[in-house]
Amino acid sequence: MPDDPFAELKAVQREAWALFAPLEAISTMPAAELIRHARVRPKQSVLDVGCGTGVIAVTAARLGARTCGLDLAPALLERAKKNAALADVEIEFREGDVEAMPYDNASFDVVLSQFGHMFAPRPEVAIAEMLRVLKPGGTIAFSTWPPEHFVGQMAALVGKYQPPPAGVAPPLQWGDPSIVRQRLGETVTGIVFDRGVICFPALSPQHYRSGAEETFVPVVKLVQTLQSDATRLATFRADLDSCIGRHLENNMVRQHYLMTRAIKR
Ligand SMILES: C[S@@+](CC[C@H](N)C(=O)[O-])C[C@H]1O[C@@H](n2cnc3c(N)ncnc32)[C@H](O)[C@@H]1O
Repeated sequence: MPDDPFAELKAVQREAWALFAPLEAISTMPAAELIRHARVRPKQSVLDVGCGTGVIAVTAARLGARTCGLDLAPALLERAKKNAALADVEIEFREGDVEAMPYDNASFDVVLSQFGHMFAPRPEVAIAEMLRVLKPGGTIAFSTWPPEHFVGQMAALVGKYQPPPAGVAPPLQWGDPSIVRQRLGETVTGIVFDRGVICFPALSPQHYRSGAEETFVPVVKLVQTLQSDATRLATFRADLDSCIGRHLENNMVRQHYLMTRAIKR
């Protein structure tokens, strides 16, 4: 978008999200849950928004859906193409921004996003786009992180050290059902929520944190920023370890998430 006030931020994110690739091992299991929640059927046309390495897209395509995937990060799309080839399914992957998608109105029976569209800076623009490309009677469904659970608490901690840029809505708002209802508005009917949990293996809080410092973009960026302030970096790491420690049990960090489904009128 030529007049996008967040073009610079997105240019940074386009490169930064490349680090997410190893986390596909963790996002593979909830992908099956979101496909079930969205009731995807063979032959439907399905769009996976913020598709990353394509875990949702490949799962839908393996069910027989005609599937497209869109993401900001070219490096993740390369990996998504390899995943589709490995699974022997055809998927059309495109580089693009959920806030300005390269698809015609009413192109898809189902529009999905797993922890993807929630990172767009302008939720009202992102949701309007997702509903625009969805056919009337089609299904929109997405998974998001609720503020009250572990990922939400971790993100709030990151936000304490590095507040989001002015005008950027906190991604965790997408984990609050009342805000989700408000954002979907009158364009949809039949909103249904469900919840799931990802069990993330970790030997210690430090193991989890060290992984997050390499793969989870908000943490990666904060640690980069704090490199010039060793004391503050150490305090952040201690705070994060204690947050992780409160959720680590039996070598697993339980990451609860929210699933939403609705029908476009
Ligand atoms: C947490 S990852 C989730 C990836 C994938 N859906 C999964 O579950 O494995 C977030 C994804 O959203 C993408 N993303 C962030 N902002 C975006 C935007 N404005 N438009 C399109 N994709 C975006 C990132 O590039 C990244 O692939």
